[in-house]
Amino acid sequence: MQTHSSIADLRAALQQRGRVVFVPTMGNLHAGHISLMEQARAHGDTVVASIFVNRLQFGPNEDFDKYPRTFQADCDKLAAAGVDVLFAPTEADLYPEPQEYFVEPPGIQNVLDGEFRPGHFRGVATVVLKLFNIVQPQAAVFGKKDYQQLMVIRNMTRQLALPIAIVGGETVRAADGLALSSRNGYLSEAERAEAPRLYRLLNEIRAAIRAGQADTVKLENTAIAALTAAGWKTDYVAVRQQADLAMPKDVNAPLVVLAASRLGTTRLIDNIEI
Ligand code: PAF
Repeated sequence: MQTHSSIADLRAALQQRGRVVFVPTMGNLHAGHISLMEQARAHGDTVVASIFVNRLQFGPNEDFDKYPRTFQADCDKLAAAGVDVLFAPTEADLYPEPQEYFVEPPGIQNVLDGEFRPGHFRGVATVVLKLFNIVQPQAAVFGKKDYQQLMVIRNMTRQLALPIAIVGGETVRAADGLALSSRNGYLSEAERAEAPRLYRLLNEIRAAIRAGQADTVKLENTAIAALTAAGWKTDYVAVRQQADLAMPKDVNAPLVVLAASRLGTTRLIDNIEI
């Protein structure tokens, strides 16, 4: 696996590489990321991964400084997964001057996770567009675990007519159902044992809707109460339309249940499609 930190070196390395498939990450890689790399292989000739902890998408009181940085272990995992090229820029490589031009997503950036993380999706969209311009892939893979992020990137790619196919990768879960996430490492032993409750509750909502329950707000409130009783602090549990993340007009349309809740100091997000 070749590794480059400079934009010029990466561009030179990617000339005449056939169809390039790109998987951007912030590192601290787990089996969920590796499954995205494996999916990427099916969509092109050269798999390019990136590792960059993007300051622009973290709020002032969020975990940018303590976000786990495990570069050497990440390189070993990517090489073992058959990734061809790793782009691992420093902040000076990617933001050699203060970033003053941004991608401003529309209203979707202010709902659900965006309501609780102001500016987050603006930071994500800006760095992803910049990475797309650097790597110039024909396809890119993003995990469905970050469902709203995937939608922001799909919409940006379509509206800006970027010639890139966006592929959504399925969420990888631990045996007890907890969605794999770099932030799971922050959980204490007791919190880790409690954490699968979130996925269980999402499954209960899905089962209730499939069984004909149409009052989705009641289902959301029941799940929030169950989380609160178990010591969680919930930002949202929300049943939404898959198409646009709006409130459902028809419970028989494709839906998704999304949740963000805090166990101790760790904020977990998850979702499940219906
Ligand atoms: O999902 C992530 O890891 C990040 O949001 C991404 C897409 C790499 C942008 O920094």
